Amino acid sequence: MLKQPRRRTRYKSTSPVLLGGHHCRLAGVDMRLPHCPRVAAVWLVVLGLASHGLAPAAAVPTLSTALRWIVDEGGNRVKLACVNWPSHLEPMLAEGLGKQPVDAIAKDVVAMGFNCVRLTWATFMVTNASYSSLTVAQSFQRLNLTESLAAIRVNNPAVVDLKLIDAFKAVVSSLGQNGLMVILDNHVSKPGWCCGNNDGNGFFGDAYFDPDVWVDGLTKMATMFAGVPNVVGMSLRNELRGPRQNAADWYKYMQRGAEAVHAANPRVVVILSGLSFDNDLAFLNSRQVNVSFSGKVAFEVHWYGFSDGQAWRTGNANQVCARVAASVARRALYLLDQGWPVFLSEFGVDNRGGNVNDNRYYGCVAAVAADLDLDWALWTLQGSYYLREGVLGLDEVYGVLDWAWCKPRNDTALSRIHALQRPFRGPGLAEAAPYTVLFHPTTGRCVVRRSSLVQTTLELGPCGETEAWAYTASQQRLSPRDSPMLCLRAEGAGRPARLGLSCGDELARWSLISDSKLHLAVNASLSSSSSSGGGMLCLDVGDDGRSVVTNPCRCLSSDNSCDPQNQWFKLVTSTRSVAAANTMLAQLPLKLRSWKIRAF
Ligand SMILES: *[C@@H]1O[C@H](CO)[C@@H](O)[C@H](O)[C@H]1NC(C)=O
Ligand SMILES: *[C@@H]1O[C@H](CO)[C@@H](O)[C@H](O)[C@H]1NC(C)=O
Ligand SMILES: *[C@@H]1O[C@H](CO)[C@@H](O)[C@H](O)[C@H]1NC(C)=O
Ligand SMILES: *[C@@H]1O[C@H](CO)[C@@H](O)[C@H](O)[C@H]1NC(C)=O
Ligand SMILES: *[C@@H]1O[C@H](CO)[C@@H](O)[C@H](O)[C@H]1NC(C)=O
Repeated sequence: MLKQPRRRTRYKSTSPVLLGGHHCRLAGVDMRLPHCPRVAAVWLVVLGLASHGLAPAAAVPTLSTALRWIVDEGGNRVKLACVNWPSHLEPMLAEGLGKQPVDAIAKDVVAMGFNCVRLTWATFMVTNASYSSLTVAQSFQRLNLTESLAAIRVNNPAVVDLKLIDAFKAVVSSLGQNGLMVILDNHVSKPGWCCGNNDGNGFFGDAYFDPDVWVDGLTKMATMFAGVPNVVGMSLRNELRGPRQNAADWYKYMQRGAEAVHAANPRVVVILSGLSFDNDLAFLNSRQVNVSFSGKVAFEVHWYGFSDGQAWRTGNANQVCARVAASVARRALYLLDQGWPVFLSEFGVDNRGGNVNDNRYYGCVAAVAADLDLDWALWTLQGSYYLREGVLGLDEVYGVLDWAWCKPRNDTALSRIHALQRPFRGPGLAEAAPYTVLFHPTTGRCVVRRSSLVQTTLELGPCGETEAWAYTASQQRLSPRDSPMLCLRAEGAGRPARLGLSCGDELARWSLISDSKLHLAVNASLSSSSSSGGGMLCLDVGDDGRSVVTNPCRCLSSDNSCDPQNQWFKLVTSTRSVAAANTMLAQLPLKLRSWKIRAF
């Protein structure tokens, strides 16, 4: 993660020792929750994942690439839905081991719906004797992290006297026992918080970044994990950056690093990061990577709200989304069309919900991630750090877990990620002819149809229960695919959008407007219906936070004071089977009744 201007953070003086202990197992058989009982007990239920965490660990596949997709041995798509877990800071131990047993953390990762962890490491942990010789206890003592060490003794006694690399292996192994894939990410050379332009870890030739040492470190890690099946990928170096960065050296060293990893461990997918804090892979447009192997190379890109400064807060969100998404496409996502996987290996928001810049960015990045059905790794798992930038027990506001690693920091923020965890399409997922999903990125929910005796309503629901829509740009008509005689109609400002039979007029003609193309609108000026109120009506979410209505289109341009995101819907292509209970055929008798009752 790019070093930002220091965020306001809470210093936690509470002794980690007091908070240590096996006190908030969230999944599995042990449900004793003395310190955080109520919230923790309900959150898995809230997320609808209560049974997920209890499932036996599935065998982890060996991955390779097929055009832009990551696939298993059978050529079927495996979507990476990862969360980042740092182990590269000064102590060189995966964060949180003073808070929870490693197995409990791994089970939480599974329970939250992730299938993979991007686990970071520092080169010197394996190349520099002054670090690699240390045990966990010595590493913490060296930093005077006495309280953290005592807490690790309580929660993870087995790692305390291990060498750092053996503790790292124990973490990988625990993730594997829980069926989680791991991507080993070489994050820095010298252990510590990342990343600044001038921190000596930015580019080949920097103070701590000797290319030979780096290749040696990669080789050692690749070799050590060659026989560990759940290590499915290795990313060569996080966020290349700084005054020394240049494309010529990028090819020279990244190709060398890729060859070294592949030679030592031909099973892993080798992941290559771009320049400028992994924001820039545009140079690959003029010269491809040349390595001796194929089917095992992917690229990664990072995209944060602050990647564009405060643009989201100070600009109009539609205009900023259009501009930034086009820029990310030019810099990185264009590689998908050229047949390379692009892994969005860091993105995320301040989970407290008060960061306007992050909040507006989120809807845009989620729309892109759904549209392109990207592989990704959320920043980030950890609720806190042993030590970051000199602060003990620093609170991580981007963390999905809270400071005590007990429960999700924000259920709303976590639940909207779920829509992105399940693939929409790809090799082996052609379960249905392609259809359109009306995805609401800000909530991570999709437009579903609910029928009662008297009528059918449209509302936001789980994307797994989505209605299958057909949208034709020429006719501008949105119909349930299995009942093409019906169409989505606006019925006026503040009124529910409905399925109707009269599909020929302007109120049933939907176009994608605003620069972001995330507004789905009808032009009600042309309508003879007086109730429509005139002007452009946009699909929107009602005050109940659930019903799908239309309202006058909001903040389409210029205005930076309002947030258009409730009106943002992305038309996403899916080939996943549609839940049977949701199909028109299953609902036909009810539908017929509701047609008779409703006047069109
Ligand atoms: C080992 O680490 C020390 C302390 O950070 C550093 O000064 C030294 O350059 C490193 N040596 C190598 C060979 O990387
Ligand atoms: C650890 O504490 C000792 C004794 O107070 C002090 O001399 C040393 O500088 C401290 N080390 C660090 C890394 O803070
Ligand atoms: C790729 O690398 C190989 C081996 O170094 C070399 O022989 C070949 O000319 C290179 N191809 C291109 C297109 O640069
Ligand atoms: C959780 O995140 C949502 C969405 O950003 C936000 O509206 C809400 O205020 C956050 N809640 C808490 C408790 O942080
Ligand atoms: C909507 O229709 C009116 C009346 O024909 C027209 O003047 C207006 O330009 C249309 N608005 C848009 C955004 O297409």
